[in-house]
Amino acid sequence: MTPATESQTDTVDRLDAAHAWHPFTQMQEHLANPRLYIERGEGCWLFDTDGNRYLDSNASIWTNVHGHNHPALNAALIGQLEQIAHSTTLGLAHPTGARLSEKLVSLAPDNLTRVFYSDNGSNAVEIALKLSFQYWQLSGQPEKTGVIALTGAYHGDTFGTMSVGDSGGFHSRFAPWCFPVDRVPTPVCDEAAGVVRSEDMSASLARLDALLAEKADTTACLIMEPWVQGSAGMRLQPRGFMKAVAERCRRAGVHLILDEVFVGFGRVGPLLICREEGVEPDFLCLAKGLTAGYLPLAATLTTEAVFQVFLGRFEEYKAFYHGHTFTGNPLGAAVAHKSIELLEERMADGSHAETLAAFESAVKQYGVDSGLFPVVRQRGLLAALELPERPVPERTGLKISLEARQHGLICRALGDTLLVVPPLVITPEEIDFLFKQLTRATQIVLNA
Ligand SMILES: Cc1ncc(COP(=O)(O)O)c(C=O)c1O
Repeated sequence: MTPATESQTDTVDRLDAAHAWHPFTQMQEHLANPRLYIERGEGCWLFDTDGNRYLDSNASIWTNVHGHNHPALNAALIGQLEQIAHSTTLGLAHPTGARLSEKLVSLAPDNLTRVFYSDNGSNAVEIALKLSFQYWQLSGQPEKTGVIALTGAYHGDTFGTMSVGDSGGFHSRFAPWCFPVDRVPTPVCDEAAGVVRSEDMSASLARLDALLAEKADTTACLIMEPWVQGSAGMRLQPRGFMKAVAERCRRAGVHLILDEVFVGFGRVGPLLICREEGVEPDFLCLAKGLTAGYLPLAATLTTEAVFQVFLGRFEEYKAFYHGHTFTGNPLGAAVAHKSIELLEERMADGSHAETLAAFESAVKQYGVDSGLFPVVRQRGLLAALELPERPVPERTGLKISLEARQHGLICRALGDTLLVVPPLVITPEEIDFLFKQLTRATQIVLNA
């Protein structure tokens, strides 16, 4: 029973402490620290249950594009809601999904013509992997079962995605249940504020060449995030790396799966990186920014050549038996379509480029030139600011995130690396606020 004098925040706090189990969170630490309850959002700002506001420099886990509570996105959502909230795509279709498929195909490289929906990034990747495996079986090359992936990769938390991932601390305890994968070392690229200080992809390409020479006949696919490995702490790749990998995969007859779950939809600049670099993957995985951070929806795009191989009479059992209950949900599809239109407008009228420029100059001023962070990585609207080395138990990154809340900022740290991933519509004033408050919080914790 709720005590009569309890505030809303106290009630929620009591319920959360009693019942919640948060993802990617050490709950002992969570329960010992002050907790925060976000009740609503407006633009780039989040409001807690006491009415305090915070700039969302985490874009609600890298998803938010146009800000929270956006009138046009809300209208698209409500318009769809008044039609229908959900109708299965298993053997049925809906107009919103069909229109979104056409839109996605128009944005993607020309070879990608088919859209397989799901409901989160991990599933988008699982689907790409399974489609590739089944494709080779149906094409009379069942021995092509191997997968190549990069060191430091993160593609999700399901068993297939953990297998292709290499996020040590997150997943290593599940290794006994994961399938083996060949690794190519991630290339090196030290870049921030438009300046590339060093880059090297020679070791990566040499290893890939050796692997393909030895194993192409038994390898189904190679999977990678193009340009940036987000969850590895924003590890950047030299421009041209994806293209070099794509050419090698094409020559060797190995599928290329591009995971643009994080980097797609303007996060690093272009709407889709593969289109920007003129790379035609066999599979393209999209989620996160696809619905501007509104709803869970994901898509795996592929080619007509792959699609055709799965066609046949029912009793040949060539169909792709994979589908989640909320796959291709129309509410998500309606918001995604509107979000893409808004993003195209921002790109056409130069607003997106202005935001990128403002972000880059703030990274230079507060990150690179400040001397506060030994390492700064940045491309597009993402940055990683590494803190001076401290013992792990000090939890410096977490302390700075908690301190930042006192200064009106929500930010997420990956160990002792501060990650800055704001909504794409953040204004120059908000960017300045973000870095000022992050600097203040960092100075307070480091000098404590
Ligand atoms: C590159 C990449 N792929 C896949 C995923 C998994 O997406 P989800 O969390 O929606 O399952 C993520 C999530 O952070 C990601 O960054």
